[in-house]
Amino acid sequence: MTESKIKRVGIVTGGGDCPGLNAVIRAVAKAAMGECGASVVGIQDGFEGFVEDRIHDLSNKEVSGILSLGGTILGTSNKGDPFHYPVEDRNGQIKIVDESERVMRNYRRWGLDALVAIGGDGTMHICQKLSEMGMNIVGVPKTIDNDLSATDQTFGYDSALFVATEAIDRLHTTASAHHRVMVIEVMGRYAGWIALGAGLAGGADIILIPEIPFKWQSIYKKVQERSLHGKRFSIVCVAEGARPEDGELMVKEVDIKRTDVKRLGGIGELVTEKISEDTGLEARVTVLGHLQRGGSPTPFDRNLSTKYGVKACELAAKGLFGVMVSLRGNKIDYVPIKEAIANLKTVPLDCDEVVAARALGTAFGDE
Ligand code: F6P
Repeated sequence: MTESKIKRVGIVTGGGDCPGLNAVIRAVAKAAMGECGASVVGIQDGFEGFVEDRIHDLSNKEVSGILSLGGTILGTSNKGDPFHYPVEDRNGQIKIVDESERVMRNYRRWGLDALVAIGGDGTMHICQKLSEMGMNIVGVPKTIDNDLSATDQTFGYDSALFVATEAIDRLHTTASAHHRVMVIEVMGRYAGWIALGAGLAGGADIILIPEIPFKWQSIYKKVQERSLHGKRFSIVCVAEGARPEDGELMVKEVDIKRTDVKRLGGIGELVTEKISEDTGLEARVTVLGHLQRGGSPTPFDRNLSTKYGVKACELAAKGLFGVMVSLRGNKIDYVPIKEAIANLKTVPLDCDEVVAARALGTAFGDE
């Protein structure tokens, strides 16, 4: 490595956690300490810690032995957007204020030359604005949702797929034993990557994703046909952001403190109720929830996180900022953060996974 431009680097993990965060922290910290001779600071609980001045110096010991550990040793939050920062007034009312100047002040006061920000779409939007204000940032794309464009894959997605696929495998045996329709609701926000990937890997009979609004009759037809042909059970894998052609996105909660104010959920239950009421078939729902985000990263995610972390440190050492590391084919590359947040990466309707699933008779509820 040529002479490093960083002597003191901060690391922050923002948004919802996912497997692989600690692997990135370890990679950035070890490369920064070892290759650049830099000191490393951990910011606690995402941008909340940035606003509230909560940091500590990371030691080599603290970042050792965490490669396979889920969660994040730094803590995270999906409520600390400094540009829309929630504060409680004396009457217990939440007010939204702009704390970005405070973040910039803390960054300078802590003596940081660079920040490695590990996060998803929400975090990268914050990073772009802070970078326009003069902060030296390198982003690392994290999210089980895999919805960041400009990278072929975010870390965390493979681990979520692993959990969701195993859940579908387990549902298969009980569905078959009881001749039931088993509906599984998976996460993914406004993109259907988890439902599509796990549905294909788990051999789901119906996959419902936000990108393909579905018709109720099409779902009923599929489960009834299977029943008629002696296949007395069906598996329906539904993304939390899926919706019927004639219906709305299902929102569990609206919380103005969150970076994305909407928390999705409930479509799995609705699909299950409608199937049992309108077809007479027995149906059950499983909402997989945060199991998809917990636990150890898969080997793929450990390696992707490690490569991302090392690349992020290399870019910072070269003084290349306002960029996000990305995966292109098998190569780790980087793109301007601006480009990475320009569009949400949703499932293209002609992608290989959709084509393959359709060829095997999987329904998407649109026929
Ligand atoms: O973005 C990650 C994610 O797990 C989404 O798939 C999901 O919609 C959301 O976060 C859940 O948020 P929370 O952890 O606040 O319930």
